[in-house]
Amino acid sequence: MKAGVIGFPVHHSKSPIIHGHWMDKYDITGSYKTIEIHPDNFQNEVNELVTNNYNGFNVTAPYKEEILSLCYEIDDIAKAIGAVNTILIEDRKLLGKNTDSFGFIQNIKSQINFNFKNKKCFVIGAGGAARAIIYGLLNEGIQEIYLTNRTKEKAESLRKFDEDKIKIINWEEKENYIGNIDILVNTTSLGMLGKRNLEINISSLNKTTVVTDLVYAPLMTPLLLDAKNQGNDIVTGIGMLLHQARPAFEAWTGILPEVSKTLEEKILK
Ligand code: ATR
Repeated sequence: MKAGVIGFPVHHSKSPIIHGHWMDKYDITGSYKTIEIHPDNFQNEVNELVTNNYNGFNVTAPYKEEILSLCYEIDDIAKAIGAVNTILIEDRKLLGKNTDSFGFIQNIKSQINFNFKNKKCFVIGAGGAARAIIYGLLNEGIQEIYLTNRTKEKAESLRKFDEDKIKIINWEEKENYIGNIDILVNTTSLGMLGKRNLEINISSLNKTTVVTDLVYAPLMTPLLLDAKNQGNDIVTGIGMLLHQARPAFEAWTGILPEVSKTLEEKILK
């Protein structure tokens, strides 16, 4: 396997640890590297990966949308989400995929007993990650999605996924709508190390509401700490990172790898 992750910057990426772990575990020879690409040189350096016989690569910020124009083929999920996080190179052509919604759903299913069918979800944020989450929730048969974002127009633009099921909530009024939901998801970067906190009072949540955060540094975000302290089930964000990597590894090697405790501990070190 010859693969890597492109981004700018990309040195912080944990993907080399994940794929390196699986290469060892499944006896796959090759390499998985971080590949920093300067925006001025984007297309040339992507072409170089093709010339150098890469099997494919992951795509992280800021290139998840820009890479679309270089793809020969884009799968339906990536097309719907409007972003690509995984490339398979076949016959020197780029095939674009998006495994983020798979990662989100599988992470929740692997950590708690939760069936999305006919449930109500509250999603905070309307960026690229939110699009993947909304796609995944609708695909799992969610009944209703309350969506809020600081910039309301961006939330409005996501109603196209399902105008009947998605309701836009004003950012300032989000606390009024969380009393009657099954799952709360933070898709914004608020709560991340070095960023400001997500200001939300969650005391009106039902005891059965699950709270999950895409932020995984810190693993226990202030939102998750609040939820845990008041007795709600929580799902941390690190598992989404691990699970979204599985279909990528499968695309390049034919093996759908498992997420183990050992891998989780390695990644959190
Ligand atoms: P990603 O691909 O990770 O979703 P993104 O597309 O840049 O990244 O989206 C970031 C999300 O975090 C957006 O919902 C953004 O809100 P805006 O659309 O209003 O920018 C949200 N976000 C980032 N910083 C924020 C802040 N200080 N307050 C509120 N929301 C914030």
